[in-house]
Formats: sequence, C-alpha cells, structure tokens
Amino acid sequence: MDDKIIEAVRLLKRSRFTTAFTGAGISVESGIPPFRGSGGLWGKYDPRVLDIQYFLADPAGSWGVIKEIFYDFFDTARPNIAHLTLARMEQEGLLGRTITQNIDNLHQEAGSQIVFEFHGNSKNLLCLHCHRRYVAGEISFDHIPPTCRECGGILKPDFVFFGESIPQLPMAAAYEAASLSDVFLIIGTTGEVMPANQIPVMAKEYGATIIEVNPEPSLYTKKITDIFLKGKAGEIMEKIGARLFSPSLDDDQDGVD
Ligand code: APR
Repeated sequence: MDDKIIEAVRLLKRSRFTTAFTGAGISVESGIPPFRGSGGLWGKYDPRVLDIQYFLADPAGSWGVIKEIFYDFFDTARPNIAHLTLARMEQEGLLGRTITQNIDNLHQEAGSQIVFEFHGNSKNLLCLHCHRRYVAGEISFDHIPPTCRECGGILKPDFVFFGESIPQLPMAAAYEAASLSDVFLIIGTTGEVMPANQIPVMAKEYGATIIEVNPEPSLYTKKITDIFLKGKAGEIMEKIGARLFSPSLDDDQDGVD
C-alpha cells in the first residue's frame, strides 16, 4: 500500500491540473451515513422520498423522512481529515477543482473554495411557489412540510432529487474539469448514479490518470482506476497529506523509509 501512496503522491505533485471527485464515502468519518452499502440510508429508508414526483404528491410524508435524514443531525457533522487535506491541497495549488455529489457542505466548511456541487446543497431550501430561497437554519421544522414565510408555498430542499436535472454551472464545471485534468482523484463513491458517474469516465477518456480511494471496489475500480488506494478516506488522505505537504518527504526520498 505504501508504494501505491508514494506513486499517487508523485503523480499529484507533478500534475498540472488535478480534480477531486467525491461521494458520500468521504463524509462517513464525519458521521454521515452513505446511501448504499453497509449502514447505507437506502437500506433503512425508501429512496422514493427523494423522487421529485413522489415528493410533490406527498410533501409531508417525504419531509418526515427527509428531515430525519438530512436536517436532524447534519449540522453537527464536521469536516474530517479527508476534507481538510483536499482544502489544503487547493490552498497549496495542488488541486484545481473539487466536484462533489455530496450535499453536506463539508468541503466548504473545511476551507475549499473551488467546489462544484453536482447535486446541490442541503443548507438551502427553495419555495416551490415563489422561488424564494432560505437557509435551512432560519426555518422551523416543527411543522412539516415547512412553508414559505412570504407566500405559504411548500419548501423543498434545494438539492437535486431523482427525476430533476443537474444545475448547469456544476455540470459545465465538471465536464471542463474532466477535460483539463492530468490526475482525477475519486474518493468514496460507488459510481452508480447518472449522470455524475460519467465524469470520471470522461476524465479517463481525456487521458487523466485515475486515483481512487475507497474501502471497497466501486464500479470504477476495474474499469478505469489506475491506482486503487483501498481504505477509508480519512486514513488514506492523511497519509497522502503527510507526504504531499512535507518538504522532507520529497520524491527523491520516497521509498527510502
Ligand atoms: N471512506 C471512503 N469511502 C467510503 C467510506 C470511507 N470511510 N465508507 C464508505 N465508503 C464508500 C463505499 O464503499 C461506497 O463506495 O463510499 C461509497 C458510498 O457510495 P454511495 O452511498 O452510493 O454514495 P454516492 O456514490 O455518493 O452516491 C451518489 O446517490 O442517492 C444518491 O444523490 C445521492 O449523491 C448521491 C448519489
């Protein structure tokens, strides 16, 4: 494993443009459960609550589950070492862009500034009637579904539900990142959800080297991954950071320890 970390760090140091592509797995060590796999949300809840047609037909029913999943405890989650390492990479010019499927805001809380949220952000709520936006913290969830203070319309989390299209800006930024990247760093995603799952494939087609961090193989691992770093995001990214940011562990010394 250490050899693979050393190789990954070597590539990251030499890359002219690196993109991080993250999924639910990067936030697991912050206490946020993933969607699929062991302990996954979809083993406990019906994913239809995040289907836009289902939500519109029964907003109160959907909101009961959505509140429990996303609003009762998300605020207590803090960025972990994997988020922090990506933020430091960005600050030190070693990471050009972070594309995330996550809606938990943890990349921004870690200090990353160039973040494109493919699926939106749970911190914002949108009135389906007058399109006024709210920050979740200013809304009371005592009454479900929450409603707009201005017009009484139903509020919907401003993240992308199944059946909704991806916002244009993150979509364009992600496609551009795929075309620009020498190194594409995938962290903690199964790669099961379209169209986000196509971005790493595009990056590979454009010639990027794919580094993947995950305790389990994903749909990418056998197909496009060049270096698979098997393990938890926090543990692997801590090791990567230790080598990437330490002047004493430069390329020449790698392999000596
Ligand atoms: N570190 C890194 N990866 C981890 C960790 C960890 N500590 N724990 C679990 N994982 C991995 C799992 O092995 C799995 O591959 O994280 C991945 C989580 O996969 P999903 O739950 O499918 O999450 P994601 O790929 O982000 O889902 C995509 O599906 O329902 C939607 O819109 C939702 O954005 C989400 C999309």
